[in-house]
Amino acid sequence: MTGSTTSGAAVADVHPAWLPDRAFAGIGGLRVAVIGDGDVVQTVRDEVERATARFGGALLHAAEGADLVLVAAAQAPGQLAPESFDVALDEDVVVVRAADGPALLYGLHHVVRHTAARDLAAAVGRTGFLGVHAPAEPIRMLDHWDNLTVHPVMGQVERGYSGDSIFWLDGRLRDDLGRVEEYARLLGSMAINRVAVNNVNVHAVEAHLLTDGLDDVATLAAAFRRHGIRTHLSVSFAAPMTVGGLATSDPLDDDVRAWWTRAAAAVWARIPDFGGFVVKADSEGQPGPFAYGRDHADGANLLARAVAPHGGTVFWRAFVYNHTQDWRDRSTDRARAAYDHFAPLDGRFDDNVVLQVKYGPMDFQTREPVSPVVAAMPRTRLAVELQVTQEYTGQQKHVCWLGPQWSELLGFRPWGAGTTVADVAGGHGPGGRAAGLVAVSNVGTDEFWTGHPLAQANLYAFGRLAWDPTLPATDVLDEWVDLTFGADDDVRDALHDVMDESWHTYEDYTAPLGVGFMVRPGHHYGPDVDGYEYTPWGTYHFADRDGIGVDRTRATGTGYTGQYPEPWRDVYERLETCPDELLLFFHHVPWTHVLHRGVSVAQHVYDTHFRGVDAVDAMAERWATMQGRVPDPFFDRVAQRLTEQQRGAREWRDQLNTYVLRKSGVPDAHGRRIH
Ligand code: GCU
Repeated sequence: MTGSTTSGAAVADVHPAWLPDRAFAGIGGLRVAVIGDGDVVQTVRDEVERATARFGGALLHAAEGADLVLVAAAQAPGQLAPESFDVALDEDVVVVRAADGPALLYGLHHVVRHTAARDLAAAVGRTGFLGVHAPAEPIRMLDHWDNLTVHPVMGQVERGYSGDSIFWLDGRLRDDLGRVEEYARLLGSMAINRVAVNNVNVHAVEAHLLTDGLDDVATLAAAFRRHGIRTHLSVSFAAPMTVGGLATSDPLDDDVRAWWTRAAAAVWARIPDFGGFVVKADSEGQPGPFAYGRDHADGANLLARAVAPHGGTVFWRAFVYNHTQDWRDRSTDRARAAYDHFAPLDGRFDDNVVLQVKYGPMDFQTREPVSPVVAAMPRTRLAVELQVTQEYTGQQKHVCWLGPQWSELLGFRPWGAGTTVADVAGGHGPGGRAAGLVAVSNVGTDEFWTGHPLAQANLYAFGRLAWDPTLPATDVLDEWVDLTFGADDDVRDALHDVMDESWHTYEDYTAPLGVGFMVRPGHHYGPDVDGYEYTPWGTYHFADRDGIGVDRTRATGTGYTGQYPEPWRDVYERLETCPDELLLFFHHVPWTHVLHRGVSVAQHVYDTHFRGVDAVDAMAERWATMQGRVPDPFFDRVAQRLTEQQRGAREWRDQLNTYVLRKSGVPDAHGRRIH
């Protein structure tokens, strides 16, 4: 299977994902005018030229005689916010007026999405086609956890399930950047506007990117720039020592300040539109300001002041917790850590610091409550961090369509009513400080980009939900299917059958009721119920013969519920109101405790684990009907992965059910076989 770069050169072995030529059929037969200047406008022109050459239309340079007019920047009348575009009908000509080059690209793809399954006239009649379109989230960013070399334990891409890095090979930039160009094109089509190109765990080799690797970074930045995307680096807080040869990295030290100022100036001299730095500090062994008795506002502002003169942003991660905990110590609760460290610092971060907060208080689990940090820092720009790479959701071996999970958490109302999580990130929360969404990317050198071909939909959904978090996940899936496969009702129905409930199914056969972390330590794939129970990582479920779960109440537990505002601090505190799906996150209960749904915790585990395996079998059967309806290589890869998912789900079912039966002695009410 091949894709092709915007310059027209074919890239071997790259799947076109949601941008096959066919997706452009709706505009390709038209006379399309592209008006405006600049790199990204040129990308739009290249896309139109390619589509019209293929489907018999024409690229025009002036509006006269056009069916579709795409106008950028200076030519666009009226007030449009950056990155926004307006679609209007002028007589029977569709006119897209864009605020800038990137907005023109987003406008083009808006039309492409709406015409993938119908012609332009039919698209015009659809709700949501005409009118002003603006991104809800100003920052729509993908982080790559890519190492320059192959890490002995983690491989090249940390938590990557799709082959090697598309950027780096043997310590330097790859010679062939065809995939990077295709990737930038895919990201631009769904309005991603920032990427970070190396791992947040910055090893010695990657630390030097900041100084010795700038030519490589500049080359990447040029590829991304053509699609409206700014490039970022993850940097080590200890860089002044490890790269700069200083004796300290103390954020209040003058030499350290001067070093960062010089380092930033050199980066921006080489890459004038560079985006900024991503920093994981005092987290899982990464260096940080705590070593000097300084706090994280001191640390973040040190870098922020170095990059501010250049328009740069510092993405400072809130994933800070004690990873060398004593499991016997019941007073430490990892879930509390981000709030405890950061909420007191609200108001102290410079304007160009974005605090990057994982969506849940722990670590990208299948089910977690929304992080209480989201509601706690009105005077700080907060970006919510998601994980497109499926570290804890099946590692791109299992189908786990994450659109519904993200819709649910972005639509969560931290104060019970009104403002949503997406609103807070987008600057419509109490303090009005705007940032956006960041996610860990799931791509690699795999021929389908994502290992599991259906995981392409997760990448697509992240971009679309960052643009409009109120889009129903099911509509996003429709878009992805129509673009990827063309308008085919049978394929669309089958993919909904396989994917719509796949997150809930995954939850069914894995860790129950929000308890989290029952995975094999290290690689995190497959069940290991007690695998983390006596480790230093702070991820415990406390199961014994009587019960299971973590008491995070104020009354008798760690007090974590107190980090939430009303109503959630009380909703979660009380067994009577705590939602079933989060019960074991907040409470330690007997195996015989009866859920709102009317069965005991033990029985719930049995029921959901049997049900989950049945659902995976049904998914595999449904997918089998797609043979010959989707390209064979795609069909075969999904079928192979479903076989592994069937095996994996059975392993989870049998280990979980057996564990609960052995611990609790509660028999299955339906007498099913438990090992
Ligand atoms: C998880 C993941 C790590 C990663 C970390 C992070 O813990 O397992 O590989 O480094 O998250 O987000 O920094």
